[in-house]
Amino acid sequence: MQNYQGVLHRYQGLLNLPAHTRPVTLLEGDTPLIPTRRLAEQLGGGFELFVKFEGLNPTGSFKDRGMTSAVSEAAGRDVRTIICASTGNTAASAAAYAARAGMRAVVLIPQGKVAAGKLAGALAYGAQVIQVDGSFDDALGLVVQITHKSPICLVNSLNPYRIEGQKSAAFEICDVLRAAPDWLCLPVGNAGNITAYWAGFKQYHDLKSSGLPCLLGVQAAGAAPLVLGHPVDKPETVATAIRIGRPARGEQALQAAEESGGRIIAVTDDEILEMQRALAHLEGLWVEPASAAGLAGLAHEISAGHFKAGGKRIVAICTGHGLKDPDIITKEMTKPQVVPPRLEALEEAILK
Ligand code: F0G
Repeated sequence: MQNYQGVLHRYQGLLNLPAHTRPVTLLEGDTPLIPTRRLAEQLGGGFELFVKFEGLNPTGSFKDRGMTSAVSEAAGRDVRTIICASTGNTAASAAAYAARAGMRAVVLIPQGKVAAGKLAGALAYGAQVIQVDGSFDDALGLVVQITHKSPICLVNSLNPYRIEGQKSAAFEICDVLRAAPDWLCLPVGNAGNITAYWAGFKQYHDLKSSGLPCLLGVQAAGAAPLVLGHPVDKPETVATAIRIGRPARGEQALQAAEESGGRIIAVTDDEILEMQRALAHLEGLWVEPASAAGLAGLAHEISAGHFKAGGKRIVAICTGHGLKDPDIITKEMTKPQVVPPRLEALEEAILK
């Protein structure tokens, strides 16, 4: 008999969902909080570092936490169709939960800018995928407009029930560590996740005096509206998941970072890719580029002398699995060596 029944069940009473909610779950959540000692040493040591590996959710990203709550609420009022704009992960998650609920999913993605594993996921779960000849921000504008006119349910993080489900990740961290960490580092795109974490930590603190972390939100330098202080018309970054120029919850993200005593910073694509490599090579954790941004931000702050990590307990959120974006690895790699099927050739290749 399995006891775990997903985040709505585990945290019922703490997620503010209407009475009509009808649970639609893939047993998301309960992701591991993995100690990463070798990486911590590489960053200078003297502190505790954990990765919460959200790529181990059912569709490979943290989006499943908010999708179970948003789709469950929609299911409870017999919604037939859900829609979202997405850089890929929300699309795959919406498609899977819609399938599970017997609904139709329509997903709008920026043309040519969605990683292969995400697009394949959305198609595999049977969503109608529409490419927009524009950015994520253009696509989000369109889905907001159509949901004002038609009886279609928006499942982007503008939907408040998405935030409710995503709070569960903060609860899990406090439950495992028995308190909030000193710092929480995470990537910021449309800014729903940082908003949800902050709401979750605050709620748990009011309830259980679990403490509050400082938030380090990290954007990609080519898509850093919250750092620059203005929207970015043509965002560009290798971390396509966070290639966003007008974050829907930008104001809330800035407020959360400030209230927490933390900040939002930007890192370059090179820093992101270097951290993606370090996580995989040192810890055996393969995450998609955007997911390495939080840790890249931490590394940046430590090496710039802006951050005293000594004695601290730090949690980094790795939001999506590396399998989502295999091309980023294969496009750079030298092709694996080929040997004839003879022992001497193998010896030559690995022992010399
Ligand atoms: N990391 C990954 C892997 C993401 O897919 C996203 C957002 C983020 C971080 C940022 O989270 O938007 O809440 O600040 N992806 C959205 C999508 C935009 O469409 O899948 P955020």
